[in-house]
Amino acid sequence: RKKKLIDEIYKVNKLAAMYFYNKLFSEEGRQALAYIKKRGLTESTIKKFGLGYSPSQGDSLLKFLKEKGYSEDFLVKAGLLSKKNNSYYDRFRNRIMFPIIDVKGNVIGFGGRSIADTLPKYLNTPETEVFKKRKTLFAINFAKKSQQDKFIIVEGYMDAISLYQAGIDYVVASLGTALTLDQAKLIKKYKKNVIIAYDSDEAGINATLRGLDILDELNLNIKVLSIPQGKDPDEFIKKEGVEVFTQLIEKADSLIEYKSKIYKKNLNMDSPQDRILYIKKIARDIAKISDEVKKEVYISVAAKIAQIPEDAVRTEISRFVNSKI
Ligand code: UTP
Ligand code: MN
Ligand code: MN
Ligand code: MN
Ligand code: MN
Repeated sequence: RKKKLIDEIYKVNKLAAMYFYNKLFSEEGRQALAYIKKRGLTESTIKKFGLGYSPSQGDSLLKFLKEKGYSEDFLVKAGLLSKKNNSYYDRFRNRIMFPIIDVKGNVIGFGGRSIADTLPKYLNTPETEVFKKRKTLFAINFAKKSQQDKFIIVEGYMDAISLYQAGIDYVVASLGTALTLDQAKLIKKYKKNVIIAYDSDEAGINATLRGLDILDELNLNIKVLSIPQGKDPDEFIKKEGVEVFTQLIEKADSLIEYKSKIYKKNLNMDSPQDRILYIKKIARDIAKISDEVKKEVYISVAAKIAQIPEDAVRTEISRFVNSKI
């Protein structure tokens, strides 16, 4: 019974995706299409990702799907309609639609970007029988097919699509900032190398630090790419081009390099107290590493970054190991 519901939701989502897609290329979608093109996406990219437009009336998808025989209550379960005061209306109105597709090619949900000033900026499908945001990675359907032995994780829909359009076909988006354990496990199913490329604002940095620990626990090889000048990957690649972005990928930091940099940024390394604090912080991170070779590499990296003797780091690490912190 549940399997049947799930299959019905996939089916109606696909119909909805086609509906939104057709609307984008209709008169109603003129502004929306202009918006996407202004953001640099080509028609072939728009088609590849099946982007669409949800009209603003509030009952257009409802009418379309009711005519196809779907009940309103089912459409609420699918996350396509909302119900308020016993009346039903389209959940997505006047938004650019991003279909979210799972590894098997099913449309499991949508993200909708506001093109007016309506908040939230992005509205997603609510949790349904098939859409579990915490287990979802946008563009995984494409990235898993990449010849490259890695994933690059970005925050948003536009970041993923822009990178893909520029030829980086191994990109996935974690749909907002915090990477979950389920998303990390999904990554590990396919590749063992990951590069985190979150926005370089405060939220992005904090999400990077959390995401790093989650990925590291699963023993993935992690690198962190820092986007300069407070931008996100979409803005950066549009401004600087794919070659410069590729250089950033090549220069990406290891976990310990990245953490060292972040700690250093918040400390005054000319002050002895702060240098001690740095050693303590980084030693705690290194102490968690089980691979002895990796540990040695990180000790030398951390020592070099702070210009301190390697033995100082080692001593501190052994304290953490002994006290099992
Ligand atoms: P950002 O706030 O960084 O937006 O959110 P963005 O992707 O750069 O948006 P543009 O470039 O202005 O279009 C990153 C991601 O977080 C999720 C979305 O997946 C978004 O792409 N998000 C963001 C939401 O789900 N809801 C929101 O209101 C905002
Ligand atoms: Mn952001
Ligand atoms: Mn952006
Ligand atoms: Mn962003
Ligand atoms: Mn933004």
